Amino acid sequence: MDQNAYIEQAAAHFRTLLTEQLNRQERMAQGSPAKDFSRMERIVIGLIPGDGIGPILMAQARRVLEKLLADEIANGRVELRDIEGLTIENRTAQGKAIPDEVLASIKDCDVLLKGPTETPKGGTLESANVAMRRELDLFANVRPVSVPKLGIDWTFFRENTEGEYALGSRGVEVPGMLSMDFKVTTDAGTRRIAKAAFDFARANGKTNVAIVTKANIMKKTDGMFTRICHEVAADYPEITAEDWYIDIMTANLVNPEIRSRFQVFVLPNLYGDIITDEAAQIQGGVGTAGSANTGSQYAMFEAVHGTAPRLIADGEGDYANPASILKAAELLLRHIAMADKADQLAATMYLCTETEQRVIMTGHRDGASCAQFVDYLLEKL
Ligand code: IPM
Ligand code: MG
Repeated sequence: MDQNAYIEQAAAHFRTLLTEQLNRQERMAQGSPAKDFSRMERIVIGLIPGDGIGPILMAQARRVLEKLLADEIANGRVELRDIEGLTIENRTAQGKAIPDEVLASIKDCDVLLKGPTETPKGGTLESANVAMRRELDLFANVRPVSVPKLGIDWTFFRENTEGEYALGSRGVEVPGMLSMDFKVTTDAGTRRIAKAAFDFARANGKTNVAIVTKANIMKKTDGMFTRICHEVAADYPEITAEDWYIDIMTANLVNPEIRSRFQVFVLPNLYGDIITDEAAQIQGGVGTAGSANTGSQYAMFEAVHGTAPRLIADGEGDYANPASILKAAELLLRHIAMADKADQLAATMYLCTETEQRVIMTGHRDGASCAQFVDYLLEKL
């Protein structure tokens, strides 16, 4: 193909993308009311094991949920439902990030607990996470990080469906010459994540929200993100909205002089992805963090870490740490209006991992296995 043919093809592609994204923004602008879990007669929790260490961790998370929700399961208010088929083998065989029948069974649930899923580098298979966030419109990625002894209590509101992720597998290429990806920010998409962050701040007595972008460089997309966050902030006069650039914010998080003054963060997708790994590391590693992906109809809670192929290859999968998936389970319980059970899980985890520490995990054979740790946890619950 000559250069002009590439340009024509890319222009047509861009027209399609722009039309799709404008339609999406219009659908979002119409909005839909969020589910009220406290009034629901029946809540279906889908369990998606994932790949690698995922099934090992999920089997243990299931035991914890079975115990915490024993009464609700017995009287039919809650169902724990295993979702099959979201495996790298099935996804590769079908060439789909989420095979159709799996997506249908996912959509029959109200909330989901998900283990890590493998994403091949390169190729065309899209990340199952990214596809699920889009298919279920899980626009808010909420990641709490707390280190009480350092005075750290942060909650990140990462926009979860836009930015570099919206069209990440649909860029254009002129082979051997140039590649171009697209970054998308919409009015409705920004407004709803900003509102989620400020609502959280208000409901939890927080006084400060940091809006983190690179608006000095990404003038259109991040510029719009910042402007809309400030428009939303105007409805929350008791909360200070501060602008920060992502580069200096990554430095701030490791600066003991100032980091404890930050409370709530709202940021576009990719910056949120990066900085929440940094924050999780400050808390003790990505294995300790949980992540909530929430929308108005569905919510998915997941471990922040990956599938740990090295642990599996070394035959040490059984020693994988369930802290992150259990943190995700805690966030799930909070989301379905069962805060007392979430608190109970959090307090018992704290006892087992910080104070009593009778069973120690190292992530390897020389420590307790995931199942042994959960035996201990269940005994203390
Ligand atoms: C995360 C992960 C995902 C992301 C990957 C697995 C697609 O890093 O949840 O932070 O980039 O969002
Ligand atoms: Mg990430």
